[in-house]
Amino acid sequence: MKDFINIADFSAEQLKGLLAQAVADKKLFRAGKLPATCRGKTLALIFEKPSLRTRVSFESAIVHLGGAAINLTQADIGLGKREPVADVAAVLGGMCDAIAARTFSHETVCELAEKCPAPVINALTDYSHPCQAMADAMTAMEVFGGDLAGRKLAFIGDGNNVARSLAMLCAKIGMEFALACPEGYELESEFVAAVQAVGPGASFTQTRDPRAAVAGASVVYTDTWVSMGQEDEKAERIATFKTYQINRDLLAAAPKDAVVMHCLPAYRGYEITDEVMADHAGTIFAEAENRLHFQRTLLHVLIAEGGIG
Ligand code: CP
Ligand code: NVA
Repeated sequence: MKDFINIADFSAEQLKGLLAQAVADKKLFRAGKLPATCRGKTLALIFEKPSLRTRVSFESAIVHLGGAAINLTQADIGLGKREPVADVAAVLGGMCDAIAARTFSHETVCELAEKCPAPVINALTDYSHPCQAMADAMTAMEVFGGDLAGRKLAFIGDGNNVARSLAMLCAKIGMEFALACPEGYELESEFVAAVQAVGPGASFTQTRDPRAAVAGASVVYTDTWVSMGQEDEKAERIATFKTYQINRDLLAAAPKDAVVMHCLPAYRGYEITDEVMADHAGTIFAEAENRLHFQRTLLHVLIAEGGIG
């Protein structure tokens, strides 16, 4: 596979292989022994939305591999406005060795991948955030020691892009996934059917009850109640989600060794309390750093090895 667009595009073996390689490469990198396999290669970065982690992790990762990043904002290139998406894809495919794109519409990233001869990576769309889910799984592997099969991830909050990628990844690697969300913010039935079709081991539940979701969970996860592009719904969402906060009271219903994860940016006092952020800062910031380590391995595999086989 040339591109990295959706978790669903890959087999359990491919995903587990990438995760194991990322954990191993991280150790090599820290020992100063990771080979620079992308010397002279360029990575084009397209961002229609703001970013800290994704942009810095991709820029750093390609530099660590001996290459360089070219950051293209919407003001620079006017993707789909100044120029059709297909033309941007063809031009960048002729000049660069990979594209990482963060777009509103998922179809835009899919079209880039279809029309670009070089690898295209989904750096978040309204639909999914696969690099985030992989870095999260890598973090959980480091915390719990390797195989995550049979463990449970509870996602408290919106059935959004991050929840979607985590749900699919959990199904693929044999983790139980439970989403606790208000009515109307569930993951859509078509997607749920796709998750359940992954295999008999795919355990997926949606509930209104955060305490039921966190019972037995190794990972308690949350994300903002108001994703980028939903700013107009902010007041309504804050009112709707107010009982879906990760706080110490909710964590009392989770196992003692459960870790809290957040993809960041975090809005303290809303989806997570200041106290819980402080209690679990070690895991949450390790998770952020793992964006770098996972994506460096991903760039190596897509650019230097020619794709995910
Ligand atoms: N988690 C994440 O993708 O962060 P950024 O939006 O800062 O890239
Ligand atoms: N769901 C959030 C994730 C931010 C990394 C958003 O799309 O804004």
